[in-house]
Amino acid sequence: MESSLPDLEAILLVGGQGTRLRPLTLGTPKPLLPTAGVPFLAHQLARAHAFGVRRIVFATSYKAAMFEPVFGDGSDFGLSLEYMTEETPLGTGGAIRNAAQALTSGPDAPVLILNGDILSGHDIGDQVRTHLARQAAVTLHLTEVDDPTRFGCVPTDGDGRVTAFLEKTPNPVTNRINAGCYVFTRSVIDSIPAGEVVSVERETFPGLIESGDLVLGYADRTYWLDVGTPAAFVKGSADLVLGRLASPALPGPTGEYLALPGAVVSPEAKVRAGSTVGARAVVEAGATVDGSVLGDDCVVHTGATVTDSVIGRGARVCAGAVVHDAVIGDGAVVGHGNELRAGVRIWPGVELPDCAVRYSSDV
Ligand code: GTP
Repeated sequence: MESSLPDLEAILLVGGQGTRLRPLTLGTPKPLLPTAGVPFLAHQLARAHAFGVRRIVFATSYKAAMFEPVFGDGSDFGLSLEYMTEETPLGTGGAIRNAAQALTSGPDAPVLILNGDILSGHDIGDQVRTHLARQAAVTLHLTEVDDPTRFGCVPTDGDGRVTAFLEKTPNPVTNRINAGCYVFTRSVIDSIPAGEVVSVERETFPGLIESGDLVLGYADRTYWLDVGTPAAFVKGSADLVLGRLASPALPGPTGEYLALPGAVVSPEAKVRAGSTVGARAVVEAGATVDGSVLGDDCVVHTGATVTDSVIGRGARVCAGAVVHDAVIGDGAVVGHGNELRAGVRIWPGVELPDCAVRYSSDV
């Protein structure tokens, strides 16, 4: 990996409810959703470690108790992990302030803050060095997107100084947006009010800009994805499997698909485009699975087609069914011949009955 810094501390924001990913996030917080075969955060932890991060404080809230059993003390990742839980969600700024109680860094040290739902290929070490060289209060990773109308945008002056945090608008002044990875000088974190709901995007950053502190933009065009929606989540998982973003945590070689232990993929099935086949999951002959995440113990039966979708643990897609751009909850059954498209979400355990019409491709 590009370049590392010694012994950097980080805070990982993982307390959000992940409402846009329901029903996947009803039972599992977004940062723990299986992504390219491992919990999403495993990819972030491995990348952070590769850049010299050695100690990470998890800022938890929603389903807080689920994190420690998965990551423990962090030694599997060569990291030391701490868990700080908010009694009630404090928003991004309040969560950073709360988690900072567990930091050991002094007031002038840089502290890395990571949103727990971002895949990014940018050089974290270079971002930190830029922050130190410019003696900034905060240095924000900015990424350039094709359609900035869907995001708030972050203009900078010729020196990289952030001049404003603008809300979504049909006519954005720049295509640079907040990429969800910040370097804070420790003392700036301590100036966030304690025990209150605070948003860094809506309060802390605009406040710092207003008072003349240096909020710096670190812009680049490397791989970047916010996995907050179902479509983005399946794309992120597929990109990792295909190797479009290198991850030291990928539990196998990159390729058209990743099969977890006990998965059974028929030689007469087509499984492609970065799909993951969960542990003990079955893809039968004549089925097609493209760019999708199949949970553990699920079954895609003969002649079914699954594209750009998430199939929950133990769910079944029956013969001749078409699932495209959809989320199928854990244990749900998509009966024979159903066709689900464009953003459909099936709640866990729901059973869609077989359709009366039979298809020639069915067995
Ligand atoms: P949606 O509900 O789908 O918007 O997802 P989200 O809850 O993750 O919200 P969002 O994507 O805006 O959050 C950005 C990052 O901040 C994510 O990593 C969240 O886990 C985290 N986050 C958001 N709110 C809180 C909070 O109140 N406390 C903590 N600890 N983390 C938060």
